[in-house]
Amino acid sequence: MPATIQLLGIFGFPISHTLSPYMHNAVCKKLNLPYFYAPFEISSEKLDKAIDSVRTLKISGINITIPHKEKVIQYLDEISSEAKLIGAVNTIKNDNGKLIGYNTDGKGFIAALKEDTGILPGKRSFLIFGAGGACRSIAIQLALDGAKKIIIANRTLDKAENIADNIRKNIPACDVQAILLNKIADIISDEYILINTTPLGMKESDSPIFDYSLLSKIKIVVDIIYNPPQTPLLKEAQKFDARTANGLNMLVFQGALAFEIWTGIKPPILVMREALIEKMFKL
Ligand code: ATR
Repeated sequence: MPATIQLLGIFGFPISHTLSPYMHNAVCKKLNLPYFYAPFEISSEKLDKAIDSVRTLKISGINITIPHKEKVIQYLDEISSEAKLIGAVNTIKNDNGKLIGYNTDGKGFIAALKEDTGILPGKRSFLIFGAGGACRSIAIQLALDGAKKIIIANRTLDKAENIADNIRKNIPACDVQAILLNKIADIISDEYILINTTPLGMKESDSPIFDYSLLSKIKIVVDIIYNPPQTPLLKEAQKFDARTANGLNMLVFQGALAFEIWTGIKPPILVMREALIEKMFKL
């Protein structure tokens, strides 16, 4: 490593499964940039010290992943407006000792949606399954980017209501509703772009998220799962000729946006995507 190398990285727990180092380091190698991206396993009790070390070691930028995206906010000097609305940070820039938090998950999703389906959120309606952190980032960014209507369908109604209330309060131009997952037959129509943010479909033994015969009404389906690349939801949607996309490009674009925040350089998307695919499928 040259003496002038600048450090980037990711804090999470566990961290061994992360694919981010492969895509960021592939870009640095390809463009011959003086950065190195390293994974760090950081427990919740050590998060404050780890964030302090970003200042001490002059680490240029850090991604934050599960389970620290919310907790980390209290240790930062500033956060972007969308990270504040979402209540979670996945990217920190070290600006001469001032740590600024951003959230590129929602924006990464929107960029991937555009790349994969040609769709922009403006005046569109979305039906989102699940109400965890991923739904929160995606729903809030869709609303910020002009979505007309969002319905959040979840097994636990309270969690969907919580995200819906946040949007109603902060982005009132977006019509948002929360419903129970088992009630979607009452509302589903070709007006909606479907987005799965639940983990259902990652394992072969997972039950369907809903009755997939309802997909006959749907034209566009996005599953944020990227492994397997074709979940049962996407396969069933394709049988009805719906356009489909998986979560690979969301992972790529959230990373690309973070890289640009840290370095000011727009990274080559192809290089990032290929590094991920190579690592995931051991090509
Ligand atoms: P993340 O925070 O990464 O988005 P998560 O919180 O683990 O992911 O899960 C996202 C959503 O998937 C949750 O809202 C969860 O529903 P609950 O709020 O009812 O817990 C939903 N989910 C997970 N397993 C599920 C299952 N077996 N059936 C239905 N929904 C499920």
